[in-house]
Amino acid sequence: MTTFPAINKRLIVRLSVLAGCALTALFLVQCSGGGGSAIFVLEPLPYRQDALAPTISAETMGFHYNKHYAGYVKKANELTKGMVFAGKTAEAVIQMTAGDASKAAVFNNAAQAWNHAYFFKCLKPGGGGAPEGLLAEMIDEAFGGFMDFKELFITAAKDQFGSGWVWLVLDEGKLAVVTGANADTPLAHGLIPLFTVDVWEHAYYLDYQNRRVDFVKSVLDNLANWDFVAGQLEKVQPPKK
Ligand SMILES: [Fe+2]
Repeated sequence: MTTFPAINKRLIVRLSVLAGCALTALFLVQCSGGGGSAIFVLEPLPYRQDALAPTISAETMGFHYNKHYAGYVKKANELTKGMVFAGKTAEAVIQMTAGDASKAAVFNNAAQAWNHAYFFKCLKPGGGGAPEGLLAEMIDEAFGGFMDFKELFITAAKDQFGSGWVWLVLDEGKLAVVTGANADTPLAHGLIPLFTVDVWEHAYYLDYQNRRVDFVKSVLDNLANWDFVAGQLEKVQPPKK
């Protein structure tokens, strides 16, 4: 696995072309012509707050959704008020501010709002197991098998120093596992996000304390929503005939 490369604006353009509408649908978007409407909306959890227990307790999910995620959405909207971002999508805000130190606060909150909404969709009660179809084939091709992918993903999570995210992404038609620190996101690197686990301590500390690996293993085994991931993949990589 690798960490994200330096921000590359040309890759960002490539992402826009590749992902197009498929990603736009996820982007918490509320466009407005006059800059008066919020760009980021707080997406509802796709399950009850206690539905992921015991892998993720209701208490952890409550803090994660109501405090952390909601906080990023609120702050991202405060920071994107005004004409510079008027009418932009969440995706566009992330791409416009990626790698720009003077816009770090906007990027961090916008990317965290997007990452969290995506992460919550990657989970479901009664998830886990192994994917099927095109996603399974591509995992076999890229990693040698699902168990090898899991091992790589868990190792990436363990090795991510400090707060960040572990991602399964599509990179020029091939699957890859990448990690990013803090708010970093595949959208800033021309990569198409497919699956992610949040490895900020707020995602697991109440339930697992410092045992990040146990948290990630349990998410993969019990909560991973491979149907959602397969759907995302098929939007940009049609099934083989
Ligand atoms: Fe988080």
